[in-house]
Amino acid sequence: MADILPPNMLNERPQTPAGLLSNREKDRLIERGFLGLYRWYTARSQETRNWNPDRSFDWRSLSKDLPSEIVTVLQGFFAVEQYAPDFTSSLITLVRRSHGRSHFQMRWGSEEEKHADAWENAVLFSEQRSPEWIAEYKERLKSQTWELPFPDAIHNLVYTVFQERATQLNYLNMMKIAQGKSEKPHLQGFSDPVLAKVAQTIAVDEAAHYNFFLEGVRMYLYYYPERTLNAIKNVIGQFSMPASMLVPDWDQFFEVVYRAGIYGPREFQRDVLQVAFRNMGIESRKALEEGIKKTREVPDFEGGNFKTTAIFETFDYGQIEGDVRRLHTKIQDYEREIGFDMVDPTEFIENPEVPKTDGQAADD
Ligand SMILES: [Fe+2]
Ligand SMILES: [Fe+2]
Repeated sequence: MADILPPNMLNERPQTPAGLLSNREKDRLIERGFLGLYRWYTARSQETRNWNPDRSFDWRSLSKDLPSEIVTVLQGFFAVEQYAPDFTSSLITLVRRSHGRSHFQMRWGSEEEKHADAWENAVLFSEQRSPEWIAEYKERLKSQTWELPFPDAIHNLVYTVFQERATQLNYLNMMKIAQGKSEKPHLQGFSDPVLAKVAQTIAVDEAAHYNFFLEGVRMYLYYYPERTLNAIKNVIGQFSMPASMLVPDWDQFFEVVYRAGIYGPREFQRDVLQVAFRNMGIESRKALEEGIKKTREVPDFEGGNFKTTAIFETFDYGQIEGDVRRLHTKIQDYEREIGFDMVDPTEFIENPEVPKTDGQAADD
């Protein structure tokens, strides 16, 4: 357009595009955020969660007469976690151009690998499966390869948020059972302190994973709201636990997990979906779907920017901005401790696309 405008009109052209962040700049900001978060995460992981799957638990004291349902669940946990090399290699390949994200995936993989080994130890020391049986089972599992549930990075990032939360919930509920707090008649009276400690230790890791990926999704929501909300809608439309298609006895496992009150559709709705939504500023699945529909119905008039405005009403943008700011404060505190602030600080840059709420918010 510039070349057909008379020179005296150049200054009157709408300034919006010039004031907005380019995709390249947004990607740079997200990458910086991931790098800072990864550094913070790694230091914290080493300081507070540096446990060992063999040495951190008194395996000899694990009960030799765990309820058979519990052993079935432990075996299922092990089956899923032992795909850690597949999860890790697929995700690293997907994000290999990002320092923060690819290095994080290696760290994450090293934590998931511990989960697989700890659950395998639990199955082995329960003495309800022979070492030969475990070896054969493992061989069967490893004959299949886990593949990414979605083709692109943003969908997989969103998927991982829900998956980590669901996994954390599974382990927390196992911990409660092992602490003797089950409300299910067939599990009452049972407790095992070793198992409770294992489940709790792994659940703490899963909470840290959930937070890392959640912070990532928040940065995407902040800089690319429309694309990210669409990814969230697509992911929850077809969510299932990882490796559910690969584990040979999945249906039996899932039935036992469900009957033990560990995880099922109700838990997914209440303790996964609603929690993650709240953390992402989304009111409900209905609000998300209606917001996206509305965004699509609004014509994107040239210069009018109506489409952009509609997407910002789909979720609590202010909450996300606050979260992204807080993330940057956390990164900056860490960088000051090390001295990065003197040489290469991470800065928070506002997304100028955001319609400012000036007390007269657009209502329709
Ligand atoms: Fe895990
Ligand atoms: Fe995890």
